[in-house]
Amino acid sequence: MKNFNFHARTEILFGKGQIEALPKALAPYGKKVLLVYGGGSIKRNGVYDSVIKLLGENNFEVTELSGVEPNPRIETVRKGAKLCRDNQIEVVLAVGGGSTIDCSKVIAGACFYDGDAWDIVLDKEKITKVLPIVTVLTLAATGSEMNKNAVISKMDTNDKIGTSSQEFVPMASICDPTYMYTLPAIQTAAGTADIMSHIFENYFKSEEDTYVQDRFAEGILRACIHYCPTAIEKPDDYSARANLMWASTLALNGLTGAGKGQTWSCHPIEHELSAYYDITHGTGLAILTPRWMRYILSDKTVSKFADYGVNVFALNPDEDPYKIANKAIDLTEEFFKKIGIPMHLSELGIGTEKFDEISQKLDRKFDDAYIPMTPQDVKKILEMCL
Ligand code: NZQ
Ligand code: ZN
Repeated sequence: MKNFNFHARTEILFGKGQIEALPKALAPYGKKVLLVYGGGSIKRNGVYDSVIKLLGENNFEVTELSGVEPNPRIETVRKGAKLCRDNQIEVVLAVGGGSTIDCSKVIAGACFYDGDAWDIVLDKEKITKVLPIVTVLTLAATGSEMNKNAVISKMDTNDKIGTSSQEFVPMASICDPTYMYTLPAIQTAAGTADIMSHIFENYFKSEEDTYVQDRFAEGILRACIHYCPTAIEKPDDYSARANLMWASTLALNGLTGAGKGQTWSCHPIEHELSAYYDITHGTGLAILTPRWMRYILSDKTVSKFADYGVNVFALNPDEDPYKIANKAIDLTEEFFKKIGIPMHLSELGIGTEKFDEISQKLDRKFDDAYIPMTPQDVKKILEMCL
């Protein structure tokens, strides 16, 4: 296990009705709030009304930024940063999924940066000061509610790039599972695929003595596989939503990746697909993951895949490791199909036309991955996804 720092500064206010704690969560930072949200789901499901009511009753001064796109755009960040400066905003309140939270993080940093906001996406060293961020989560997927990451897109150059800062970590996040009752089934499924991918990216690594992290990881995967079909069948099943919501937070708050090194594999490829085709992040990951797994299965990786098969899918440990590994990969693909994710890029209207460009853009990116990959490898994996 490598050395690591684990710092958990976010206060998680978890459960039904926790929105009542919002005024108290914001209070230490000031009264001038930038309320950031997406395309209107929070207006349709009543979350917006609850937030506005509480902020009004407690004398907060609210400036709004609506319309944050799924795969949030740099143009929206610029707009938000200007609103912060013009209105002397003291705290940013993100109400929504990962896109809204990520956009809010970069707004909170860009408002103190003199140059263009895109600079701090390209170079996290340029993030000097950040407004405090509080979130109200409405979609279990990214873990952005308790982590330091933000991913922003610049579609005119086909770029989707992650940046990060310890100062982006939210001060508090309200995680009310009932807010997810209105999620479209595909967002529940894609969100779950994203949670699982965060686990896979850290689970399939070379360190062999990370027993604690790996058993945690397997538990979270089992929760996703157990509860996602229920949440899709019965959108207002509290237990299913609660378990998925907590899984999303724990999957990417540093817990399962602690003590591990190496670059991630499927995420950088998916970010390129989103940058060119604006697809849903979790859908892209579900398509890529089983193909990547098949591509990297070898004598070097087979025992890890066998662990995955035995500990997550309860496969027979006495079978041949390759048999267990292949079965586990098949079951992974079947699970994504079962929860309704289109499992071929062609179903999203994506052909081979950009594969060379995308693979070349990722040149040397995977030199330090669990299994290093060249642009040729990336292209082959993309072809397997067609
Ligand atoms: O925009 P609105 O109208 O709110 O609708 C959203 C959006 O259309 C809708 N939605 C959210 N909550 C809802 C709801 N609809 C009904 N009821 C609700 N309760 O769902 C759609 C997708 O929302 P979005 O925020 O885009 O989804 P997600 O949370 O999956 O975030 C995806 C973004 O996060 C990035 C992804 O790349 C992508 O840009 N990621 C961020 C990470 C991080 N910060 O650590 C890590 C991830 O790997 C990922 O890259
Ligand atoms: Zn992800």
